[in-house]
Amino acid sequence: MAQDIIMGVDVGATGFKGGLVDIKKGEMVSERFRLETPAPATPKAMAKTFKELVKHFDYEGPVGLGFPAIVHNGVSRSASNIDKAWIGTSIVKTFGKDFKGSIHALNDADAAGIAEMEFGAGRKYQRGTTIMITIGTGLGAALFRHNELVPNMEFGSMYLKDMKKIAEKYVSNRVRKDQDMSWKDFGKRFNEYLLHIERIFSPDCILLGGGASKSFTEYEKYLEVEATILPAKLLNKAGTVGAALYAYQQAQ
Ligand code: BGC
Repeated sequence: MAQDIIMGVDVGATGFKGGLVDIKKGEMVSERFRLETPAPATPKAMAKTFKELVKHFDYEGPVGLGFPAIVHNGVSRSASNIDKAWIGTSIVKTFGKDFKGSIHALNDADAAGIAEMEFGAGRKYQRGTTIMITIGTGLGAALFRHNELVPNMEFGSMYLKDMKKIAEKYVSNRVRKDQDMSWKDFGKRFNEYLLHIERIFSPDCILLGGGASKSFTEYEKYLEVEATILPAKLLNKAGTVGAALYAYQQAQ
């Protein structure tokens, strides 16, 4: 494909963030445009938001779309933080209805992970096992072995030892805010989660992205895993950049 500038969209539980990305450099070449995710986040309402986003950029080419759920062959297979009507609904068909370009959908944390492995903190860890965790409304995860993505690793849905609720209901940026937790308390809880991940996957490196990664220095001291822990370099742009890169790879 001759086109090096591709639109990436990071669909989150709270916002749709889009931008035009130079996929060779891993940089955004437009401003980052954000729209609120509608509530309830139904397929119909979200399709309308997507339409507004592409209209803003007057864009008709391939679009990479990071989506906050399990994404298998363009279909959403879960809906933890969006409307349940998404389960079994095609993201590609729903957003592609009045759109001329092609849509390439993947899990949002997978998108962020792809960008970090290629252009960010994960570059040095392309050999071995690297896990990216995004700490936002939920906990997203991406698993790489020798830089190859194993898609849809729902590590946020794991049960921690002796716990009745899944990990992301115990520790996420939303839980931190809702429970007015100090960074110390958050760090200690997050440490429990990371130790559990380490026990199961023995990663060489853990990359942290999403909202809470910006405050990494506040809770870094409570994390006791053996793996190297690094905050994401692309910060809140990782999802958008990674989605665009994915669309480029898929459209080859
Ligand atoms: C979803 C994941 C998603 C993560 C971050 C979780 O609730 O199950 O698929 O990657 O939130 O948005």
